[in-house]
Amino acid sequence: MLHEFLRSPLQIGAVAPSSRRLAAAVAAPVPEAGDPVVVELGPGTGAFTGMIQELLGGRGHHVAVEINPRLASALSRRFPRVEVVTAEAARLPRLLAERGHAAADVVIGGLPWVSLPADVQHETLCAVRDVLPADGAFTTFGYVHAMRLAPARRFRRMLGVSFEEVVAGRTVWGNVPPAFVYHSRRPRDIRPIGRPHGWRSGRCSCASKPWAGLAGHR
Ligand SMILES: C[S@@+](CC[C@H](N)C(=O)[O-])C[C@H]1O[C@@H](n2cnc3c(N)ncnc32)[C@H](O)[C@@H]1O
Repeated sequence: MLHEFLRSPLQIGAVAPSSRRLAAAVAAPVPEAGDPVVVELGPGTGAFTGMIQELLGGRGHHVAVEINPRLASALSRRFPRVEVVTAEAARLPRLLAERGHAAADVVIGGLPWVSLPADVQHETLCAVRDVLPADGAFTTFGYVHAMRLAPARRFRRMLGVSFEEVVAGRTVWGNVPPAFVYHSRRPRDIRPIGRPHGWRSGRCSCASKPWAGLAGHR
């Protein structure tokens, strides 16, 4: 991870993989029964991937979307049961449709949201919202030391625009650096009138850019 961070610091966004405690917190919404579709964004070296696979125990479908081809190919060798896709997370609706999945039950985000440009934050969150049904769940994490930075506040506001319920979990002090998890539920329907759920012909399905006036928007 450190090697990849030095090559591309903003895209990787962390010098070390997340801890097992953070992985357990972020993977908490993986259903205990059935065959859920679980999507993981930005799996990196697989800190969350291993936990999700443990919780699934051979059930369901686990699709991991990683932009870095070196990390993606190492991940697919390590986790043969995981469908690893080398792509941008913002393409999620189309990536799932191509694999025969109409929606995801859970989306777990390992992306470095704070170092992503506003447009990428926006398009990626749109994509997440578009693949989740009304009872779907989205979890992702942030670093405590970065919480007050403008891109982190903007991302928190975007979450509030995208989901009816957003709850920040307790700080995982054992993670390096300390981190916390956002648990988001009940995606808001802010698609243009007449555009059905699961619209897949473009990158962003928002009727407008409701976060354009948010503090920190660039
Ligand atoms: C902070 S690392 C997290 C890795 C792992 N989830 C963890 O917590 O240890 C972020 C990962 O997101 C990937 N990434 C960054 N932007 C992305 C994007 N737009 N789409 C998919 N993956 C992306 C990076 O290549 C990197 O592997």
